[in-house]
Amino acid sequence: MIELKNISKRYGKLTAVDDLTLSIGPGEVFGFIGPNGAGKSTTMKILSCLLRPDEGVATVGGFNVMRDGDEIRRILGYMPDFLGVYDDLTVDEYLQFFASAFSIARSKRRAVVDSVLELTDLTHKKNTMVSGLSRGMQQRLGVARVLIHEPKVLLLDEPASGLDPRARIEMRELLTELARMGKVLMVSSHILSELAEMCTSIGIIEQGKLLYAGSLEDALIRAKVGETIRVTLENADVAPQIADRLERDERVTSVHANGAVLDIELKTIGDPHHFIVDQVISAGGRLVSVVPREIKLEDAFLTLTKGAVQ
Ligand SMILES: Nc1ncnc2c1ncn2[C@@H]1O[C@H](COP(=O)(O)OP(=O)(O)O)[C@@H](O)[C@H]1O
Ligand SMILES: [Mg+2]
Repeated sequence: MIELKNISKRYGKLTAVDDLTLSIGPGEVFGFIGPNGAGKSTTMKILSCLLRPDEGVATVGGFNVMRDGDEIRRILGYMPDFLGVYDDLTVDEYLQFFASAFSIARSKRRAVVDSVLELTDLTHKKNTMVSGLSRGMQQRLGVARVLIHEPKVLLLDEPASGLDPRARIEMRELLTELARMGKVLMVSSHILSELAEMCTSIGIIEQGKLLYAGSLEDALIRAKVGETIRVTLENADVAPQIADRLERDERVTSVHANGAVLDIELKTIGDPHHFIVDQVISAGGRLVSVVPREIKLEDAFLTLTKGAVQ
């Protein structure tokens, strides 16, 4: 649905996007991740026909960004990182305005606006002034606005930026719902963990160069970030013996024992770990708990952007 082939874009001497090749297929939720200034917004603007690339070919749904702007605008919804402010409009008026801008027939506008309000959970705010919305609601309104013409492909530039944890969860739920509806999503973020869990694939960009594209799981494997399982025992005396056994297991990278607590770092992510429980029990350990610890996404990101990918 989205293809970029050897795309470059320069602003004067600065190369903002450098020979970028990327493909996003139907059903994908692609997380476009990189620090500020990496070239994410520039790439998204090229795909929405707002900027012309200096080199390369970009297509959306098979249409070329250099030639087929009208067709692309029909199937693509682009939410910029900065929502234009329309202070003197209510939420409903704002969406009605965009419905008319998208040439939605007057007779259908009410139903279209009501359905996007419903989807973005803003129905109860329809008569509130746009300027009076919280940041989270403004971001959801931004999404509502790009849904009006029922695009198949959505480019959302930093939709979760500046949101508090709760608003971020609401945004994540909304994006998950859009993916479930079959829309192709390209979502940018400068924080890997912000949206990574809901992405089917991610791309990591830095200084205009795509360092990695693929599944999050593969990214973590390439960054050599494994899963850590914390085992807590009732009887600390057998901990050294269990640590010793597990350290010899080829699935285990390392074991850190601290009293009755063992942190077992595994080589992979998502594989079954009953072998740990088996080892504990056969060594006479009595289990209090076995808890997988959170994968440190930011660590993986740092490793990947330090050139560990090559
Ligand atoms: N209109 C512009 N003129 C000159 N430089 C720009 C312009 N827009 C972006 N840049 C520069 O291009 C680089 C990439 O910017 P951008 O695509 O906005 O990155 P990101 O969205 O990842 O933060 C940055 O160094 C930025 O300062
Ligand atoms: Mg940006």
